[in-house]
Amino acid sequence: MRLTADSAAALEAVGVCKFYGTMQVLKDVSLTVRRGEAIAIIGPSGSGKSTFLRCINRLEEINGGMLMVNGHLVGFRREGNKLYELSERAIAAQRRDTGMVFQSFNLFPHMTALENISLAPRVNKIDTKDAIASYAKELLGKVGLSEKADAYPAQLSGGQQQRVAIARALAMKPKVMLFDEPTSALDPEMVAEVLSVMQDLASSGMTMIVVTHEMEFARRVCDRVIFMDQGRIAAVGTPETIFDKPTNPRVIDFLSRVKAADAMPA
Ligand SMILES: Nc1ncnc2c1ncn2[C@@H]1O[C@H](COP(=O)(O)OP(=O)(O)OP(=O)(O)O)[C@@H](O)[C@H]1O
Ligand SMILES: [Mg+2]
Repeated sequence: MRLTADSAAALEAVGVCKFYGTMQVLKDVSLTVRRGEAIAIIGPSGSGKSTFLRCINRLEEINGGMLMVNGHLVGFRREGNKLYELSERAIAAQRRDTGMVFQSFNLFPHMTALENISLAPRVNKIDTKDAIASYAKELLGKVGLSEKADAYPAQLSGGQQQRVAIARALAMKPKVMLFDEPTSALDPEMVAEVLSVMQDLASSGMTMIVVTHEMEFARRVCDRVIFMDQGRIAAVGTPETIFDKPTNPRVIDFLSRVKAADAMPA
C-alpha cells in the first residue's frame, strides 16, 4: 500500500475498512479530496456516511486501509516502513486539522456565543488571549452574528446556534471542515441561512466534506458528489453527472425517493 502523501490532497482515503463487531460498515473506501474542493456525500440511511466522517477525524479507528489529512497519516506515525500508533494526546492534536459540525449543535449552554467559539483555542493556547478574542469576533461576523456575541445558546434560534457551531469549528483553523447533516435538525426557514454560510465558506476556498440531504446545495456549491451505498462509494461525479445523468440504478432509485419526499406536503 502506498504510504506517501499526495501533497496536493487535503484528504486521501485508500481502501478504508471499518467494522462494528462483525458488521462491516465501510468497505474499501477510497477517495482523494483536493485542497479547496467541496464534496457532498449522499446516500441512504445506514450506508456509512457518518462513520466515514468520524473516521476522518479519528473519532473512530479504522480497521484497514489508510487515511491522510493534510498530508498526515491519521492516528499513526511512520518511521521507515513501520507504523506506530499515535498517543491520545497526539491524536487530539491531529484532530485540530479537521473541524466538525454535527446535526445537533452541542454548544455549551452556560457560555455565550463568543465564549463557545474561543473555548478550544484558549484551552489549546493556539494564540494570545487578545488574538483569540479578536479572531472569534471576526468569525462571528463571518457567520452573520456580530450582534449575538454575548447571547447564550438558549437565546439563539436553531439556525443561529448552528452558525455559532460553524464558527466554533473554524476557530481552531482547521484544514478540512466536515459537516454531518448540518441542517437536518433545523426548522425549514432556518436551513437557508446555514447553507448560505457554508456556501461562503466553500467560496473562500475551505476544503469541505458535507453529508447532506440538501440536493440543491450539493448541486450548486459542491464540486463533486459521492454516493455511498452499503458501506461503499457506489458513484462519484460532478453534480451534473450524478443528478442529471445517473447510471447507477441505486443512485436513480435514491434520487427518485428524495424527490418524492420533497414533493410531499409538510
Ligand atoms: N457505534 C456503533 N456501533 C455499532 N454499529 C454502528 C455504530 N455506529 C454506526 N453503526 C452502524 O453502522 C452503519 C453505518 O452507520 P452510519 O451512521 O455511518 O450511517 P449513515 O449513512 O450516516 O446513516 P444516516 O443517513 O441514517 O445518518 C449502520 O448500520 C449503523 O447502524
Ligand atoms: Mg449519519
